[in-house]
Amino acid sequence: MSLLIINIKELLQVRETNVTIVKGNDMKILPTIKNAYVLIDYDTIVEYGSMDDYENIEADEVIDAKGKIVLPAWCDSHTHLVFAGDRSQEFVDRINGLTYEEIAARGGGILNSAEKLQNTSEDELYEQSLKRLNAVIKLGTGAIEIKSGYGLTVDAELKMLRVIKRLSKESQVKIKATLLGAHALPKEYKDNKSAFVDLVINEMIPKVSKERLAEYIDVFCEKGYFSLEDTERILNAGVEHGLIPKIHVNQFNAFGGVALGVKYNALSVDHLEELNNEDVDALKNSKTMPVALPSCSYFLSIPYTPARQIIDAGLPIALATDYNPGSTPSGNMNFVVSTACIKMKMTPEEAINAATINGAYAMGISNQYGSICRGKKANLIITKEIPSYHYLPYAFGDNLIDKVIINGRIVL
Ligand code: NIG
Ligand code: FE
Repeated sequence: MSLLIINIKELLQVRETNVTIVKGNDMKILPTIKNAYVLIDYDTIVEYGSMDDYENIEADEVIDAKGKIVLPAWCDSHTHLVFAGDRSQEFVDRINGLTYEEIAARGGGILNSAEKLQNTSEDELYEQSLKRLNAVIKLGTGAIEIKSGYGLTVDAELKMLRVIKRLSKESQVKIKATLLGAHALPKEYKDNKSAFVDLVINEMIPKVSKERLAEYIDVFCEKGYFSLEDTERILNAGVEHGLIPKIHVNQFNAFGGVALGVKYNALSVDHLEELNNEDVDALKNSKTMPVALPSCSYFLSIPYTPARQIIDAGLPIALATDYNPGSTPSGNMNFVVSTACIKMKMTPEEAINAATINGAYAMGISNQYGSICRGKKANLIITKEIPSYHYLPYAFGDNLIDKVIINGRIVL
């Protein structure tokens, strides 16, 4: 099966195979080809170039993309897409004056989602999650990371991870799974946090690793959740079991979580709404990707990750949704890209780099996803007719996607 796209107004993010991350000033550059074509064979990009050099190519299907822009599908490296029900009541409670922390302190928040999830069957959880996954694919997401963390018991965490595995088997998109056993402290452990950390270390991690249910280990390292010491114990155990750290840090407080992530060679450190100079210094000369989640800042009305400070220090940055029922009930990467430009002062080029190649890096898949490259997976967005790619962030809230191609197949 071959698919040919011709007359593309502009083909974005055309990169050599060896480019798997983009940093600092290079983030301002988005390599493109105007008036281009792309040829896909089965699930792989096999050829691309300028229409000026185009010589008649035979293909099973041809798309004329006149006036349209083609770019790699979004790579969303941080989500909690598997959850049960919703928390719209807490949303209303926050409008009426309660804070996110206050809601959590009275047993709402993550514990509320955990209770719902524990009482939901695996099949039902799968069905709810599949709907969300299909919805974000239609919004242009072609690769996605999904965390556990709303189970908070060994059984419920395993249930979540089995759902993620089933999604990854049955869906066309690339899915990476993360164990987030330490997401909140269950009520039963209220006065005995170290016993819960022991449970994560002695039961969850070994079982998950043995059944190969996750590749990454995450911790919500935050005041009132898990301390640096708890985080370090969990990361140690995770690494011993072959899991790679990818952690929540600096959402509400900066107290050394970034340096700890770097010390454990975290693939990414995510959130970073509160970031100080020591955090930025810790990231220099590391392989750890800082990940910003602007939809979370928007929804919770908390500071935005200081992307300019990060990029101007010569570092890379990735953008992801954080899709979850509490702090970000949206998996829309188009909104993320717009919000990054509008609120974080990232240029369209920086935001697109952050949401494609760098997002893929933060999932360990940037050798296969996140750019237009011969041999890479054919995960593409074809936009509607738009004047320029600046319209993607500029016309915020508009759905500018005409077609989504995943693994060489048109899914929208
Ligand atoms: O990334 N910060 C921790 N975890 C999620 C939110 C969890 C929730 O409120 O359900 C996040 O924002
Ligand atoms: Fe998160």
